[in-house]
Amino acid sequence: MSPFRTSTPMSDAFQTDDDTETAPLVRVRDLRKIYAEGDRDHLVLDELDLTVERGELVVILGRSGSGKSTLLNLVGGIDRPTDGEVVIGGEHLSEESETERTLFRRRRIGFIFQAFNLIPTLTAAENVRLPLELAGRASEAERRAAELLEAVGLGGRGDSFPDRLSGGEQQRVAVARALAHDPLLILADASTCWSAPTASCGCTAAR
Ligand SMILES: Nc1ncnc2c1ncn2[C@@H]1O[C@H](COP(=O)(O)OP(=O)(O)O)[C@@H](O)[C@H]1O
Ligand SMILES: [Mg+2]
Repeated sequence: MSPFRTSTPMSDAFQTDDDTETAPLVRVRDLRKIYAEGDRDHLVLDELDLTVERGELVVILGRSGSGKSTLLNLVGGIDRPTDGEVVIGGEHLSEESETERTLFRRRRIGFIFQAFNLIPTLTAAENVRLPLELAGRASEAERRAAELLEAVGLGGRGDSFPDRLSGGEQQRVAVARALAHDPLLILADASTCWSAPTASCGCTAAR
């Protein structure tokens, strides 16, 4: 796997109020992930280091099966490393319990999954409102969801259920949902960005 990054921070739109914070937004050190498969171990990530500064956009390229989704899941706190350190915005995710990581993720991470993972029983607008409701921001959820759906070109489709939307439309709902709660870090897995036959990519946009 190899990371490519923007050489300068992205536009001011990506700067946050707490820019006085000088620590990198993402700090990954000596990361190791081993999956146990039956009676054998599968080493997927070994001694991986990654630093992402605020405002940087990083694209991670690698062959299918090289561990891109595994890395994003560890950076986003969905999974826990076998060894090593994951610090996001000063929070030591790798030392936290599953409950603590879930709460952190709800507040700080916007995740666009490879298969979008929209909730099929909720409409497009309800899917986008969900992160705000989980973050205790229900009062602004309706207005924000409408704005975001408009911004991704789905202004008239808020009442549609995911199975009535095309793949591209579902992807745009997933993008709106990931942005809804103004996350500190946006993680977008594979199909949301460019991919070639021999290399797919995961990318992280940090604000
Ligand atoms: N839960 C799991 N249990 C066992 N092996 C896994 C699990 N998740 C992923 N793997 C294996 O880890 C490797 C990396 O997977 P993944 O991170 O999904 O790759 P990529 O996203 O780069 O295509 C693959 O060989 C995959 O089979
Ligand atoms: Mg993947």
